[in-house]
Amino acid sequence: MSDLRFDGRVVIVSGAGGGLGKAYSLFFAARGAKVVVNDLGSGLKGEGSSAAAADVVVDEIRRAGGEAVADYHNVLEGDKIVETAVAAFGRVDVVVNNAGILRDRSFKSMTDRDWDDVLNVHLQGAYRITRAAWPLMRKQKFGRVIMTSSAAGIYGNFGQASYAAAKQALIGLGNSLAIEGHKYNIHVNTIAPLAASRMTETVMPAEILAALKPEFIAPLVAYLAHERTAQTGALLEVGAGTVTAHRWQGTAGVVFKADQSFTPSAVKARFDEICDFGGAVTYPRTIQDNDWVGLVERAKTLGPNAQAAGGDGGELRFD
Ligand code: NAI
Repeated sequence: MSDLRFDGRVVIVSGAGGGLGKAYSLFFAARGAKVVVNDLGSGLKGEGSSAAAADVVVDEIRRAGGEAVADYHNVLEGDKIVETAVAAFGRVDVVVNNAGILRDRSFKSMTDRDWDDVLNVHLQGAYRITRAAWPLMRKQKFGRVIMTSSAAGIYGNFGQASYAAAKQALIGLGNSLAIEGHKYNIHVNTIAPLAASRMTETVMPAEILAALKPEFIAPLVAYLAHERTAQTGALLEVGAGTVTAHRWQGTAGVVFKADQSFTPSAVKARFDEICDFGGAVTYPRTIQDNDWVGLVERAKTLGPNAQAAGGDGGELRFD
């Protein structure tokens, strides 16, 4: 059976001492890549550290005949992780930003420390590693970067304000880098995985967890990381063998006449129409896809806006 291979490629996987990162590292190494297995070896909430996590994965790769080196830096020291890759293997081709921690608490109970730590590991960590690898990728005119978001980042989730903020930010970071990296053959894609790991083992029933093997995420990550893969700027949800792509959808909306009649009451009168996804919809892919000039011209041709009528309609007040 032929499969995509990574011979000669150097892959950094952050947070690779367990869970998804471990599965990616074994997968890449088995297909010829030289892997930098980064892991601070901390607990689920980011507490403590241990070299053992990365060492175990590197041992397993080497015993199977693969090439790997352990790196124990905090992702906040992304430049040092990239230095490890260059010192051991001379280059960096792929960065899988995967390290993460959880501090699930309601917004009311969350501390500033929780907020900072979660944003630091997920967002700053991905930023620091990618930032350090970027000039190398630009110079060699090749790079593949994977950002790891989460359904919580896309949709929000109770008790995960910090985590969701970081995970949504990674989508924005990935989308912007996909644009900037394009002409240098640096492709950046974002995944939102769902898999059994210490992160999910306490919140899901055993039979569901059994279907959610981390090994079922690795093929997508490897595909996105391959040199022949042209895809960039995608957001993909993946778990239990299902992969779905996601994009933004906008309604046709309402163009208001921008004059004195554009009041809160006028918005109220047509709010259902603004939010109507049943009618014509748009799928903007870039910031240029919104035709602001055309909309402004169209607004000039309109008559005064209708105001909400009767009952609590009429002029909205804030006394
Ligand atoms: P995990 O807890 O098994 O693995 C995360 C790894 O990151 C751990 O080995 C940990 O030691 C390491 N790590 C934590 N802080 C670090 C730091 N500062 N520097 C270096 N390494 C550090 O979790 P899992 O499930 O494998 O998660 C991997 C990624 O996938 C995370 O970004 C997570 O948020 C994301 N994700 C996972 C989901 C799932 O269903 N398991 C769902 C959505 C997103």
